[in-house]
Amino acid sequence: MTELVTSRLRLRRFAPDDAPALARYRSDPRVARHQAWRTPIDRAQAAAVIAGYRTEEPDRPGFFQYAIELLRHPGLIGDLFVATEADGTQAAVGITLTREVHHRGYATEALTAVTDRLLASGVRRVRATCDARNTASARLLRRVGFEQCGRESQYLELRGVHADVLLFEMSARSRAGSCTALEEPAGDQTGTTGTHRAH
Ligand SMILES: CC(C)(COP(=O)(O)OP(=O)(O)OC[C@H]1O[C@@H](n2cnc3c(N)ncnc32)[C@H](O)[C@@H]1OP(=O)(O)O)[C@@H](O)C(=O)NCCC(=O)NCCS
Repeated sequence: MTELVTSRLRLRRFAPDDAPALARYRSDPRVARHQAWRTPIDRAQAAAVIAGYRTEEPDRPGFFQYAIELLRHPGLIGDLFVATEADGTQAAVGITLTREVHHRGYATEALTAVTDRLLASGVRRVRATCDARNTASARLLRRVGFEQCGRESQYLELRGVHADVLLFEMSARSRAGSCTALEEPAGDQTGTTGTHRAH
């Protein structure tokens, strides 16, 4: 199953015509400032990123990138990645919304739906990280039910600046499991165990 529908949102596979919207919000400095993606990007670069997303499957280990749209007004408003470990017991998530739709509860709605789905499918621990300066992201994770379980000092390097990174987890048993260390630097985005995604 690829699609997830909530009361106001549809989370679906990316489509080629999402490229202009993806390029626009990934190139917004206020959206990108705490993210490791390449920015700014143009439509052709966004189209190439989307072509990669379209090869991914949500029910297999590895990355899957959901496109997020409003039920009432279709069109890309953001994205949410899931990175599931090879044995299917752990996953990491991260979400971005275009600035025009912030502060309406959409990120809370999307992330709740995805974490519920992951935990129902046998994932035992969902992890997320954020730059310690990213207060909106930390509030979002707490609101959804993640618990902060650590802080890595100066762990993240974003565009030449080192920042602390906050570690969050939610477990199937308690929806707030104990913390485990990150396996690799946040700059290494290529594996399926990373808690960031750079593209
Ligand atoms: C992280 C991000 C998705 C959070 O977005 P957000 O708009 O703060 O989160 P939500 O959509 O859940 O909105 C919640 C806010 O809207 C408010 N709100 C307004 N109407 C609401 C409604 N109907 N339902 C729920 N909340 C509502 C909430 O009170 C909350 O405000 P608060 O954070 O001041 O307490 C957004 O900041 C973003 O895209 N940032 C750039 C990318 C990024 O850094 N991602 C983090 C990855 S680690």
